Amino acid sequence: MDHHPGRVLISPDEITARVGELGEAIRHDYAGRAPLLVGVLKGALTFMADLIRATPLPVSLDFMSVSSYGSSTRSSGVVRLSFDLSVSIEGRDVIIVEDIIDSGRTISYLRRNLATRHPRSLALCVLLDKVARREVEVTVDYIGFVIPDEFVVGYGLDHDGLYRNLPHIAVLERGPAL
Ligand code: IMP
Ligand code: MG
Repeated sequence: MDHHPGRVLISPDEITARVGELGEAIRHDYAGRAPLLVGVLKGALTFMADLIRATPLPVSLDFMSVSSYGSSTRSSGVVRLSFDLSVSIEGRDVIIVEDIIDSGRTISYLRRNLATRHPRSLALCVLLDKVARREVEVTVDYIGFVIPDEFVVGYGLDHDGLYRNLPHIAVLERGPAL
């Protein structure tokens, strides 16, 4: 089955404006501190790159990667850590930066995993939240946009590895592109 990016759900201007607000909220909440932003590869790459430039604080960065098994548009909920942090987070103010929450399993796994490493605080910043699909309760501190139950691509999000470089967020549609 062919798929292609279709209808624009969130435009580049809307993304820029919202990311600016998130950066401002983080600056306010973490004033006087030096948070460590942990990006979840690869989807959070684009969001994180813009978010740090909207957050005027002495932030540092690290990355991790998880794999979840399932079909290309539905995650199975079985999550495995495939690439770990390069620094200790003990005593740090950590903010996990993720592209999207669907069932909540990936982020709930990450939160539990990082909490065992004794950070001073642990928060979660996510660009997109498909609240209607939540299966696992997760507390999200910063949310960019709540979106409907549709598979989306662009601005870091992929389908089979493609479309991460779109500057907007589009709904993935079935069939060949017209
Ligand atoms: P969860 O564990 O079910 O919350 O799934 C979260 C992960 O599934 C995200 O980190 C994405 O990698 C992927 N995912 C879920 N929905 C979408 C989508 O609409 N587009 C692209 N990736 C998605
Ligand atoms: Mg992801």
